[in-house]
Amino acid sequence: KSLKAYNTFGIDVIASEFNTITSEAELINVLSSSRSQEIFVLSGGSNMLLTKNLDKLVVHIAIKGISTELESDTTVLVTANAGENWHEFVQFCIQHNYGGLENLSLIPGYVGSAPIQNIGAYGTELKDTFVSCEALDIQSGNKVIFSNADCNFGYRNSIFKNEVKGKYIISKVTFRLTTQNHILNTQYGAIEKALTDKNIINPTIKDIADTVIGIRKSKLPDPSEIGNSGSFFKNPVISAQAFSVLQASYPDIPSYKIDKETIKVPAGWLIEQCGFKGKRWGDAGVHAKQALVLVNYNNATGNELLELSKKIQKTILEKFNITLEIEVNII
Ligand code: EPU
Repeated sequence: KSLKAYNTFGIDVIASEFNTITSEAELINVLSSSRSQEIFVLSGGSNMLLTKNLDKLVVHIAIKGISTELESDTTVLVTANAGENWHEFVQFCIQHNYGGLENLSLIPGYVGSAPIQNIGAYGTELKDTFVSCEALDIQSGNKVIFSNADCNFGYRNSIFKNEVKGKYIISKVTFRLTTQNHILNTQYGAIEKALTDKNIINPTIKDIADTVIGIRKSKLPDPSEIGNSGSFFKNPVISAQAFSVLQASYPDIPSYKIDKETIKVPAGWLIEQCGFKGKRWGDAGVHAKQALVLVNYNNATGNELLELSKKIQKTILEKFNITLEIEVNII
């Protein structure tokens, strides 16, 4: 089966076996009958670059369902099954006036993979509202609960990318959201500016969601139109000392202070400075409105995109002495 429709980069590779899973019981069944076979877990396919055919059983986790439980006068626990589309889930929360996820609107992918890289945007990360997730041990089929602390969340990082990588399939995720007195996060420059431009003084969570949707649509390519996996690289974190050396040569370099010793630099700026923004090699390119996003105009292969990313990494290392780390999973 071709996986072109199952990864947002739109890479055309073949899976030798493919199984769409729509219930937890079905998942347990498939796991127990495939113990000796190597399996590949496919969720929304929005954070991967496929570079070869998969001679494995691909299990596409499409388990749907959302449940809610009022927790206090001001909070609700909302649990979504892994196969819920992330943005539709966020919209469900906005419609029910559950606050906390509005800044994470329009992020591609499914709920089940959101904890793996601790998705984040516009000053908010999944970890800020994440309570726990339930996961199945691929080897034993046992159910395990991971609390927020268990997950070791960091910037685009969690235990699922490290100690227990490839060991579990997340089946559902629970968030603690607000039902009133929402804590709005409008710090991010582009949000503040858009709200001011729209003359919104007391924004609702829907105003924030709509604003985020507007900003994302203006910068990020829609995967249904142009293949992409969002930010291809992580924003590098460098020492304050290395930063001041760079700043001497590039006084306009943007930055976010992490702490006294470390500073985060936007990779998109570095890539743009090297002249890659909007460039194209065959069907592989660098998005014209956001240099951090690599795009597949139609028939690029995973390896063509990987080669392009290596060229970018090499150029950035030579020009800025910074190593860019790839954010998407290379398969
Ligand atoms: N910039 C440029 N040129 C570019 C792109 C960015 O100069 O082509 C500079 C500008 O100075 C801009 C700054 O970089 O102000 C920041 O750009 P932006 O607000 O677009 O955010 P980002 O740092 O490039 C990160 C996340 C995005 C997330 C946005 C908003 C990572 C790897 N990426 O991008 O996440 O949506 O912030 O919070 O941290 C994703 O992970 O797939 C993703 C899209």
